[in-house]
Amino acid sequence: MQIFKHIVDLQLWLATQRKAGNPIAFIPTMGALHQGHLTLVEAGQQAGALTVVSIFVNPTQFNDPKDLEKYPRTPERDLELLLGVKCDAVFMPEVSEMYPPGKSLTLHLDFGTMEQVMEGKFRPGHFNGMATVVKRLLDIVQPDQLYMGQKDYQQLSIVRQMLYLLGSTVELVMVPTVREKDGLAMSSRNVRLSTEMRLKAPLLFEILSKTAALVPKGNFRSLEQLAMEELKQEGFAPEYVEIIDGKTLLPLVEGNVGAFPVVCMAAWADEVRLIDNVLVP
Ligand code: PAJ
Repeated sequence: MQIFKHIVDLQLWLATQRKAGNPIAFIPTMGALHQGHLTLVEAGQQAGALTVVSIFVNPTQFNDPKDLEKYPRTPERDLELLLGVKCDAVFMPEVSEMYPPGKSLTLHLDFGTMEQVMEGKFRPGHFNGMATVVKRLLDIVQPDQLYMGQKDYQQLSIVRQMLYLLGSTVELVMVPTVREKDGLAMSSRNVRLSTEMRLKAPLLFEILSKTAALVPKGNFRSLEQLAMEELKQEGFAPEYVEIIDGKTLLPLVEGNVGAFPVVCMAAWADEVRLIDNVLVP
């Protein structure tokens, strides 16, 4: 496994690989890796591509400085895990490599309502920072395919829109959410849960699944309210539960049979903010 800290070195290696005709699958991450991330790598391998993972805790997408400070960083373990799944290359740049002083690299794309709903309401500036770093990473790696998780459904939708707006030929592949045995969606933030909250956390997926099962019957706004209430009763502080149209990310309208419903949620489990979603079959 190749490990790169500098863009030039990564690009030299990538150029050789491209000359040899190897397709490149890119998996951007912020480290503190778990099986969810590794499944993205495995999906790239199954498609017959060389896998390039980036590990970069991107400061511009954290609207809360405390969240950035507390974000788990486990670089040595990450490298071991990636070695274990035979990842081909890892890019671990410093902040100064990604954001050289004096160069303005901030992206200003208009994602319209897509970036204003759900996470956008509660994390101002988050998606602009996320899109900026993903665009910068794509410019560096120039992959054939980009692998991202369903776990961050809104993020993936915004990246899809960005690729469309930029006229990019990169193929975006969505990998289904990988869960713990008890249903909790794997997340780098889960390690920060107290023992008590970790035991309760599977309820998030349970309540989401129950809500998703009721979607075909309609009454979306009351289902959302009901799920919010249940989450509160179980000791979480929910920010939103929304039944949306998976294409526009707008609240699903009753009778919209052509839509692709997704139930999304964000809730605080004490000090830890968790998100999850369920696609309605
Ligand atoms: P991070 O949270 O590390 O996630 C990296 C990728 O792993 C994302 O595409 C995310 O959706 C996916 N992922 C996380 N948990 C998953 C799970 N349980 N199952 C399946 N996929 C999962 O998302 C980011 O980093 C950043 O915003 C990033 C895109 C790297 C830009 O900085």
